[in-house]
Amino acid sequence: MTEITKNLYQFSIYIPPIDFTIHQYLYASEPSILFAAGTVQQAKQILPEIKEILGDRELKYIFVSHMESDEAGGIPVFKKEYPGLTVICGDLAARELSGYGYEGNIIAECDGELIEDGELRLRLFDYPAEVHNQNGLLCLEENSGIFYSADLMLRYGNEVGNTIRSDWHDEVNSITAERIKDDKQRKELQCSLHQIDPRFVAVGHGYCIECECDTF
Ligand SMILES: [Fe+2]
Ligand SMILES: [Fe+2]
Repeated sequence: MTEITKNLYQFSIYIPPIDFTIHQYLYASEPSILFAAGTVQQAKQILPEIKEILGDRELKYIFVSHMESDEAGGIPVFKKEYPGLTVICGDLAARELSGYGYEGNIIAECDGELIEDGELRLRLFDYPAEVHNQNGLLCLEENSGIFYSADLMLRYGNEVGNTIRSDWHDEVNSITAERIKDDKQRKELQCSLHQIDPRFVAVGHGYCIECECDTF
């Protein structure tokens, strides 16, 4: 586990045969939020560390970008430890989760919505999540400038704990059809993302990005 930027803890595994990292992030704000639950195995592994970081505090939210094991698999592990937790996701994931037997709290949101709670201001973006072509979500925490990008800015390599500096708009322009197949959907998302100025990109896979055009 690494505190990759202030109050944001990165948990990772590296899979050598495919040269790939998978990350989850705990933002230890008040209230706290986990970006991506990880798989069941990862969730079991990171739960003790999360408990240590949060101490007496509860984990209040898990942000689920889209329904895939690295994003949503570990939810039951956290639900058992923190029964009051709430999953923030899109409509489709909300339906899928109940189909998988999840009976806890869900906030199902869509593009442009803002969730405000204590130190959190979560701005949501529709995310047609590549191969699954699902209506997923991405999230900018506006107070800290942390943007959780799920698979959108995915890179290969063993990048556990690594951050590079890059220009946000260059990163947005570099989103290819490999990440979002449909031209219209990709351009729409790029257009929305050009209107924000994140300070830090917490990626689902690869190295994180400290943005050079930050206004924070
Ligand atoms: Fe995915
Ligand atoms: Fe992923």
